[in-house]
Amino acid sequence: MSTVTYTDHAGESRVVEATVGDSVMETAVRNGVPGIVAECGGSLSCATCHVFVAEADLASLPPMDEMEDEMLWGAAEDRRDNSRLSCQLTVTEGSDLHVTTPSTQV
Ligand code: FES
Repeated sequence: MSTVTYTDHAGESRVVEATVGDSVMETAVRNGVPGIVAECGGSLSCATCHVFVAEADLASLPPMDEMEDEMLWGAAEDRRDNSRLSCQLTVTEGSDLHVTTPSTQV
């Protein structure tokens, strides 16, 4: 089983069972998790799926490509060292990712 834990900016967490192959953004949207707008639907053109990845999980993720890196500079809340776009993070078998959503995406 794979899970994604979403914590909002106020500290409230939701643990969601995730389907392997879905993105962290799709998992949030399908399960009604607030805090991820995903305006572009995952085509890497909006940055409204910005999340902060827990430090312990960062090393398990594939590195971001140039386009994601560029898009993150346009995110509504300033990017941090652990910023990623959740539409670019794919759920893998047995993964247990922890992300925090910013206070605003727009
Ligand atoms: S959903 Fe638009 S960039 Fe991720």
